[in-house]
Amino acid sequence: MSKSTLVEMARASLAHARAGTIDQADEVGYIPSENYTDPARYDLEMKMVFRRMPLFMGLSTEIANPGDYKTMTVAGVPVLIARDKDGTAVAYLNSCSHRGAQIMVEPKGNARQFSCPYHAWTYNHSGELIAIFNEADFGHIDKSCHSLVSLPIHESAGLIWVTLDPDSKLPISDFLSGYDGMLEHFGFADWKLFDSRVLKGPNWKAAYDGYLDLYHLPILHRDTFGPDMHNRALYTPWGPHQRVTSPDPSLEKYADLPDEKWDSADLMKGVWTIFPHVSIASFDGGGRGVLISQLFPGETVEESYTTQLYVMENLPTSPEQEQLANDQFAFLEHVVREEDYATGIRQQTALGSGLRGNVMFGRNEAGGQRFHKWLDELLITPDEGLLELFERRRAEDAQYNPYTENAKGISAG
Ligand code: FES
Ligand SMILES: [Fe+2]
Repeated sequence: MSKSTLVEMARASLAHARAGTIDQADEVGYIPSENYTDPARYDLEMKMVFRRMPLFMGLSTEIANPGDYKTMTVAGVPVLIARDKDGTAVAYLNSCSHRGAQIMVEPKGNARQFSCPYHAWTYNHSGELIAIFNEADFGHIDKSCHSLVSLPIHESAGLIWVTLDPDSKLPISDFLSGYDGMLEHFGFADWKLFDSRVLKGPNWKAAYDGYLDLYHLPILHRDTFGPDMHNRALYTPWGPHQRVTSPDPSLEKYADLPDEKWDSADLMKGVWTIFPHVSIASFDGGGRGVLISQLFPGETVEESYTTQLYVMENLPTSPEQEQLANDQFAFLEHVVREEDYATGIRQQTALGSGLRGNVMFGRNEAGGQRFHKWLDELLITPDEGLLELFERRRAEDAQYNPYTENAKGISAG
């Protein structure tokens, strides 16, 4: 995708900064509080969203070499993601066809083949059952009918998406709506994972709302980011995915320069959210980096777990740089744990009282409104209606994103 789309977006941001404007939603939005507290709603979100939509599962660099693999359990589904000998990313239900045991149990590693720890049935990277321990004793079965269950997987922009529904009717590229063409500009394929950790939070949507919200920055984060943080947001949608930026007067320095003189890192500023549960935000302690926050619903409606991945363009090469990167990541953990999620957990208790009918998203919180609208529609859309929903919503959002068609064409190419 050409850089010119990013420059166009930056020019629009600068125009807003000069004019003192943002794009407001048409009206204030109201969301029932029980959306955050109702176990039945939580079950429906698991079924219609997390078990059905493509989910960002990790970075290409986490499985850089043939045989590299990663395991995780998402929405109750154990997943095995690997790179096969040809370099293609593959995903399987991490469950043996013999009696269902999880085949790979380490969170990551490298394996020439996948051998089950229970009775040593063995699969190749293509998921084919290639060996049955004491086969003569076991009895004859047709091995070709007992491969691992394959899950749809898509790798682009150095990122990996997997759909937990083996029979998904929604191609991952349709779901991405050209957004991966924008994310390509980070160049994540060559970045490295510096560190990661997991934080506990409130209901996944209460936690996720905060990533789409700049309104709170100078208030909740006045002691960390400081009271001068911008709090006005611009939202650009690609399907359900949204980039969040702010009217940025610092771009004035580029105003009269041609596209190629605009710095790539400046052009990628802001928060890139990936529906339904990921945010990518840029930081620079110890070198250029991003915090990728991957939110997963917890065991119950009241809790979520966030994997924070700190990913750097280049790993630190000196102890000083390493310290700066560690400090940056520790700072971000503190901000999210002690400010965002501490507030969210108290908010969750208040909403759980059942005494507040609604919560509100202002005209300045169009991104939150759009996120909840997508969720509401997905919960009532059958599998066969998904493509139509994506097409209709993209058309409705076209007024908010003049770049969609361009980005889409580039992604497809
Ligand atoms: S369950 Fe895997 S070999 Fe028996
Ligand atoms: Fe925050």
